[in-house]
Amino acid sequence: MNPSSAADTLSALLQRHRSIRRFENRPLDESVVDEVLAQAIAGSSSSGNLNTYSLVLSRDAERRARLHQLHFEQDMILQAPLLITFCADTRRTRDWLKLHQARDNFDNFHGFLVAAFDAMILAQSVALGFEARGLGICYLGTTLNAAAAIAEFLELPDSVFPVTSLAVGWPAESPAPRDRLPLSAYVHQERYQRHDDAALQALFAERDVKGLRRYQAMGPEMAAQWQALGLNSLAQFYTSELKYSPAVLQASSRDLLALLQARGFMNNATTEQPNRP
Ligand SMILES: Cc1cc2nc3c(=O)[nH]c(=O)nc-3n(C[C@H](O)[C@H](O)[C@H](O)COP(=O)(O)O)c2cc1C
Repeated sequence: MNPSSAADTLSALLQRHRSIRRFENRPLDESVVDEVLAQAIAGSSSSGNLNTYSLVLSRDAERRARLHQLHFEQDMILQAPLLITFCADTRRTRDWLKLHQARDNFDNFHGFLVAAFDAMILAQSVALGFEARGLGICYLGTTLNAAAAIAEFLELPDSVFPVTSLAVGWPAESPAPRDRLPLSAYVHQERYQRHDDAALQALFAERDVKGLRRYQAMGPEMAAQWQALGLNSLAQFYTSELKYSPAVLQASSRDLLALLQARGFMNNATTEQPNRP
């Protein structure tokens, strides 16, 4: 493919992207799944080419039903024939180091971040691979909220940590594209320039109105909840009990830090480790 047609193809693919939350009751071609995963692994950058990730595929309906519970009952998990859990994984690398009497150096927070970034980069390549074939995907942020239970259910060993999941299947909806802020909200030239109040109002103007309308259109139950909580803006909604409640995120943060410790990612001691394990 010449470069300009590759750019056209990618541009069309990105413009078509929508998160899909309703799926047809239709199986996936397993050879397509293998092809997407193999190409995504081969075609994604990875720190030191250590590929510090692992994927767990869940197809079995009963097991997906349990994952549905763990993921706050997001219905797409029951509908989509495939759920992929992407894990930051330094286990394989650490075992390989040990096999060769090499020093361990990935049992720390830095190692976790690098592995988590590798896993997220891979997840997006996988997402694009499926979308390019007409399949639909949706990320599941609830992977973090239920990380400990998911790790146990998937029998992840120490040094393996679930960071995100993708529901994959044939789309049964074609939602409208979700808005983004203007490019200038995200992009800075040479130096970061914090937006003042007036600039923020302008950048968020469309989202504030459209977002409010979107939630108001969700029916009387949602409207009643807004009223009960005294919400009158999209911003207030975002940190309310209905969306990203501070109490939930704070508790989840504590759980995640404890889980990192328990899974062997927090050996941040400053002492030099011995050469041989
Ligand atoms: C890391 C991550 C976690 C997400 N978690 C969820 C989720 O748990 N449930 C959901 O319905 N959508 C989830 N999404 C999808 C976002 O809501 C969606 O990408 C965003 O609203 C923009 O819409 P679009 O993807 O259709 O452009 C997640 C997206 C990302 C990147």
